Amino acid sequence: MAEPKTSELMEKIVSLCKRRGFIFQSSEIYGGLNGFWDYGPLGAELKRNLKECWWRSMTQQRDDVVGLEASIIMHPKIWEASGHTSTFSDLMVDCLLTKKRFRADQIEPQSGMAYFYSGATDQNAGTRSAEPFSVLLPPGKPVESARKVAWHFYHERGVRHPTLLGERAEKAENSTRYNPENGSLLTEPRPFNLMLKTYVGPVESEDNKSYLRPETAQAIFVQFKNVLEVSRQKIPFGICQIGKAFRNEINPRNYTFRSREFEQMELEFFIRPDEAIEAICGSVAQPAGPQPSTLPPSPPASARPRRNEVEAGNPQPNWGWQMWHKYWVEERMAFYERIGLPRNSLVEYWQTPAELAHYARATVDILYKFPFSKRDENGELAGEELEGIAARSDFDLSQHQRFSGKPMTVFDEELKAAWPKLEDAKKAELIESYRGSRLRYLTKTGEAPETAEKQAREEADALTKGYYVPHVIEPSAGVDRLALALICNAYGEDQAPDEKGKLDSRVVMRFHPRIAPIKVAVFPLLKNKPDLVRKAKEVRDLLRPHLTVFYDEAGAIGRRYRRQDEAGTPFGVTIDFETLGEQGPELKDTVTLRDRDSMKQQRVKISELAGLLIEKIR
Ligand code: GAP
Repeated sequence: MAEPKTSELMEKIVSLCKRRGFIFQSSEIYGGLNGFWDYGPLGAELKRNLKECWWRSMTQQRDDVVGLEASIIMHPKIWEASGHTSTFSDLMVDCLLTKKRFRADQIEPQSGMAYFYSGATDQNAGTRSAEPFSVLLPPGKPVESARKVAWHFYHERGVRHPTLLGERAEKAENSTRYNPENGSLLTEPRPFNLMLKTYVGPVESEDNKSYLRPETAQAIFVQFKNVLEVSRQKIPFGICQIGKAFRNEINPRNYTFRSREFEQMELEFFIRPDEAIEAICGSVAQPAGPQPSTLPPSPPASARPRRNEVEAGNPQPNWGWQMWHKYWVEERMAFYERIGLPRNSLVEYWQTPAELAHYARATVDILYKFPFSKRDENGELAGEELEGIAARSDFDLSQHQRFSGKPMTVFDEELKAAWPKLEDAKKAELIESYRGSRLRYLTKTGEAPETAEKQAREEADALTKGYYVPHVIEPSAGVDRLALALICNAYGEDQAPDEKGKLDSRVVMRFHPRIAPIKVAVFPLLKNKPDLVRKAKEVRDLLRPHLTVFYDEAGAIGRRYRRQDEAGTPFGVTIDFETLGEQGPELKDTVTLRDRDSMKQQRVKISELAGLLIEKIR
């Protein structure tokens, strides 16, 4: 079957999601609320499954990561320390005509003829506006179109029957100053903070202002010391969390991809600074291949380091931030493959030095090739971010140490023991390196030079006694984006035989059994045969303690299979007359097990069914 065009494909996916109950528009009966989504019965199961897969692989199956569940509203100082209050903003522009708001970086450059007006007047009414305005028209469009837009602009400003003043035309090349939808001039770009505000307590005052968290990560940093104390973990170790985050996105778009309320799955993995590793192990392991810091500002994709050049393998004591970063990129890529996203649907994008946040040493974005992704120069889908894996240095804990006044340092017994055994030259080299990096951090925060110098020296001295602020590697993923990627990846159309054996087109959601919302559907062949129904219910009850089961007795069996194909249920079990022993004793208590993808059927003993399905789903 021919591949549908991408926009057509997205429309089909959106329609299936609504029709089958994966995703609904929030507040739909009131006209919806832009940027908010609800998950229906199948969507809720899908999300639960993928969060559970993430949680199990990130913490339950590891010794070195523990979990946290923190509150959504936290002390507002946290957002000052993290930089969100001052810098978590996008530049926005408003259309001067319709007031529609855009993200400035999302305005496509346009060329054409710009018509400028110095104002407008209504001689009969004696009203006037001296506000300058302009309109950009694509090449070939008549000037009347610009006048019409300008007329509405001045009309909106109280000039009821405007006569336009001072019209002049000028060619415009690649301008981002105009609304691409109607040609109207936009406002100058202004920063717009993305945090959603609220008030805690009965009084709506500045003192009571707080924020819905824009990321789950900060709670992990502020609880770092508590968790360290109770979990008996030692560096390196991680704390992970799944939870809601909120961002007042200027332009929520691409279905659930950019929402205003979403869920994140974040890990903060705390590691030793490289100087401590060198002191303990003698050297710091380096990944093979070109390092991000040695690359030119905008390296072509081919020059960016690739994951397969050398596998990080199992964690080693001599790993510094680069190996740990590489390790987590590999772990996360492997996770996506395990839940059914093929390697060739993912892109590992190394941010260029110009793109990195000021505190980040390296960031790899894992992109999924969504149908709505932009295409690269070769016409390939470029991919959109599912997850960012950032090496964030010791920035976050240092910030909370500064803002809260509470120490975020750890004591490292091994470092203390190793230090006296170092040669003097090595000691001096490591002290200088550590002092330099702390000084750079303190200077960036605006600390006075003498204070910064003094503090950096004290911190370097503390390192020699075994104390430091841990560094962190942060794999941060979005649940909703991943759910959407899994839905897009699962969507398929093919041919399947109908009741009469004639080939018919079917829509099938080929979810990996691990994350499929329903694992198995149980059908009595006919609903009006009490023995079949009773046996089918027995099979349902047998499977239910182990798997998510859906029981369906309504309609022709072929139609029931189709419904489950659309829901993405990987297995169907049919109880027929053979099950009842009517076709001979050898088939008694066996059922038909149908595979969603191959549509092949096999005969299976009821007593072996649960074990077989659990094995297939694991
Ligand atoms: N703590 C780091 C952090 O929050 P981020 O890149 O801003 O980094 C991490 O967000 C992940 O959260 C993204 O990769 C994406 O999957 C998800 N995410 C961010 N903004 C989102 C939005 N508006 N809608 C849906 N998911 C979003």
